[in-house]
Amino acid sequence: MRPFDGRRILLGVTGGIASYKSASLARLLTQAGASVDVVLTRSAKEFIGTITFEALTGRPVHTVLIGDGHALDHLRLVRGLDLLIVAPATADFLARAAHGHADELLSACLLACEAPVLMAPAMNDRMWANPQVQANVAALRKLGRTMVDPAVGPLASPDEGAGAGRMQEPETIVAHAGRLLEPKGKLAGRRVIVTAGPTREPLDPVRFLSNHSTGKMGVALAAAAWRRGAEVAVVHGPMTAPIPDGICATPVETTAEMADAVRAEVAQADVLVMAAAPADFRPAKVEGAKIKKRGKAPAPLALDETPDILRSTRDARRPGMLAVGFALETDHLLEHAKAKLEAKGLDLIVANSASEAGAGFGSDTNRVTLVHRDGTVEELPLQPKSVVADAILDRVEALL
Ligand SMILES: Cc1cc2nc3c(=O)[nH]c(=O)nc-3n(C[C@H](O)[C@H](O)[C@H](O)COP(=O)(O)O)c2cc1C
Repeated sequence: MRPFDGRRILLGVTGGIASYKSASLARLLTQAGASVDVVLTRSAKEFIGTITFEALTGRPVHTVLIGDGHALDHLRLVRGLDLLIVAPATADFLARAAHGHADELLSACLLACEAPVLMAPAMNDRMWANPQVQANVAALRKLGRTMVDPAVGPLASPDEGAGAGRMQEPETIVAHAGRLLEPKGKLAGRRVIVTAGPTREPLDPVRFLSNHSTGKMGVALAAAAWRRGAEVAVVHGPMTAPIPDGICATPVETTAEMADAVRAEVAQADVLVMAAAPADFRPAKVEGAKIKKRGKAPAPLALDETPDILRSTRDARRPGMLAVGFALETDHLLEHAKAKLEAKGLDLIVANSASEAGAGFGSDTNRVTLVHRDGTVEELPLQPKSVVADAILDRVEALL
């Protein structure tokens, strides 16, 4: 089953250069299973033709309110609709939408639409920064429209583009569409903090102690929580897994910095998921200059324990905050996980083995065992980390 199977999406395209990207967007939405109707404004038709969209969606494309089209297209197209996307949304369209105009097909569809609306503005960076445009965007947000704010990046005119204005990539818009289409559970509107990746404990200015964590499990959890409508913040060590747009990220280096960043977040958090692999030990002494090779091994390395993030931030937590921990072990997996659940006062612990192929650090799949506070143990099969993330969040929603 594809993620948007059975969903009806109306894609409105307005007249900007970024309309060329809307063809990819139409294709991605169709490939995800949605049936996509496209409406082009008169200006958009000057930038990109109807044939491309007809071929990509397999459906007729609509362009006029009064004239060649069906007399009541503006009502027919939005009846039973799951989502209306306007991408790109020009400055002029934002103004019309903010003021309730209905003088062309797309604006009229918007007024008649009861489904969620997603808009991806795109324009010159000075136009986007203009107070009138910003006032229209604020009015649209107030009306409940979801904005995928433009990014900083190259604009059509090569000498422009120091500020935001460039339409977000179609993949990002699809992710936001997925968030709006997702059935709303208990995580919607909740604040979720996820820790991800390893930490690094410096030994000297060029060396550190760390581990093999890549942050993939944490990022999968953050992305799944965001899709379910949560406000998500990720506190992460140096890692390779990219953090999806929409998620607030706080990068840190050491376990002590991770503890400080978590402390700053937990007062507002409904859920804390500790998916990071913070270093448990740090060199007792950090050398100020690079330790040189002197023909013999240096003195044995003395280590101190790093702060325990859950324990050291417990007093700062919002009362009733739900805490989920991870236990990555090489031996006595369940025994260690149960002990950690108790010692740290967790509501749920996710145990996984560091030695199993296809599970743990770096892989795209994971096999985990969930241990609940009441002693229930659930063994999940080896599956993609995104599926594991959803399984964990299903349990979290049941506990909320
Ligand atoms: C070459 C060219 C590029 C344009 N690019 C944009 C743009 O990226 N964003 C924007 O808001 N307007 C842009 N405009 C202006 C719009 O096309 C114009 O405001 C038009 O009336 C918008 O109509 P619509 O909102 O009905 O599609 C551009 C105009 C031209 C001639």
